[in-house]
Amino acid sequence: MKIGTPLSSSATRVMLLGCGELGKEVIIALQRLGVEVIAVDRYANAPGHQVAHRAHVIDMADGQALRKLIETEKPDIVVPEIEAIATDTLVELEAEAVVEVIPKARATQLTMNREGIRRLVAEELGLRTSRYGFAQSLNELQHIIDSGVGYPCIVKPVMSSSGKGQSTIQRPEDVQGAWDYAMSAARVNQGKVIVEELVDFDYEITLLTVRALDAQGEIQTSFCEPIGHVQEQGDYVESWQPQVMTLKALKNAQHIAATVTENLGGRGIFGVELFIKGDEVWFSEVSPRPHDTGMVTMISQRQNEFELHARAILGLPVDTSLLSAGASAVIYGGRDEKAIAFADIDQALTVAQTDIRLFGKPESFQRRRMGVALAYGDDANECRQRAKDSASKVRPVSGSE
Ligand SMILES: Nc1ncnc2c1ncn2[C@@H]1O[C@H](COP(=O)(O)OP(=O)(O)OP(=O)(O)O)[C@@H](O)[C@H]1O
Ligand SMILES: [Mg+2]
Repeated sequence: MKIGTPLSSSATRVMLLGCGELGKEVIIALQRLGVEVIAVDRYANAPGHQVAHRAHVIDMADGQALRKLIETEKPDIVVPEIEAIATDTLVELEAEAVVEVIPKARATQLTMNREGIRRLVAEELGLRTSRYGFAQSLNELQHIIDSGVGYPCIVKPVMSSSGKGQSTIQRPEDVQGAWDYAMSAARVNQGKVIVEELVDFDYEITLLTVRALDAQGEIQTSFCEPIGHVQEQGDYVESWQPQVMTLKALKNAQHIAATVTENLGGRGIFGVELFIKGDEVWFSEVSPRPHDTGMVTMISQRQNEFELHARAILGLPVDTSLLSAGASAVIYGGRDEKAIAFADIDQALTVAQTDIRLFGKPESFQRRRMGVALAYGDDANECRQRAKDSASKVRPVSGSE
């Protein structure tokens, strides 16, 4: 394994497709290893654009535009950071050996559509998930609920993320509204939803799972300590590590994560989302890339999830060990405005054992994630408190104030 010199003919070139806050950190990790990085997003000055060697703005769902850019830039490796990409084009380019796709083009294709990954995990791999069905009409939705999924249940467009178009159905009167809402929010209007039994879990985790080469050049699977998190409106608001689990639940979780990621194949980090009740574990979904709840690892691990991803991608060994307990709390924009400023960062940093990341997004929205407060300590619960304290002191203000 060797890494060349950036901006020369020997360069090791990596292209990030999507470079928000997660991509930005992957880029920083790659930059530290002397990799030449090309950042791509759909808008100018995205967080990762600001730290890459070159930046491009294209519609990544446009297969032709994507192919053209990859053929022009000739990266060795392409790293998808978001779901909304022309994954069929990635499959073609991988088959033509034009570029290596992380972890594999098939994984990006399967996980961008809830139907692909759910059928694989539940029906082919036989792992436990919530009861579910797919519906393409209101009638079909009602039929699936009546014939097994039951109430309460949750409806999601098959192509969507960050909770968009999702709603919970408590009773028959809610079905129509949930259908209409899902149809209005589907990313690519597929006219299809998944309806899932609402799992009455004790807590949910992200199990960061890394597939990286060991000293013998064989792929080895390692796990980070489980990350607990709280979701609101389908978006994460805080996360902590480690989440305390029974040994049995942890073994179950690791078994599910290993089985799913082995099937998806390739190298890189995966965020495996799981629901836990006692010793029982349900698979929910998986990201074949760093996970937003994993931002806590920027303070809690020796190698954070972005460094783990960068190393795994390049064929380097990884270390998933924890340094201390930690927590993250999201800092929201709180206003709809471009070029805002953040006041009282100094106040936020007076909270003991905390740190802050601001993502540098050019435009703020009320509920847009603009930064994150991090805390470390001996106890994850204490860390949660400190991270939330710190985040709450940051005051988004107008940039012209
Ligand atoms: N079947 C279910 N039972 C109970 N809770 C659920 C179920 N499905 C989803 N949830 C809750 O909703 C959250 C978001 O669901 P999911 O991860 O499927 O959506 P998403 O749009 O992919 O969100 P993200 O992109 O933020 O991961 C879950 O983390 C969990 O808290
Ligand atoms: Mg999720």
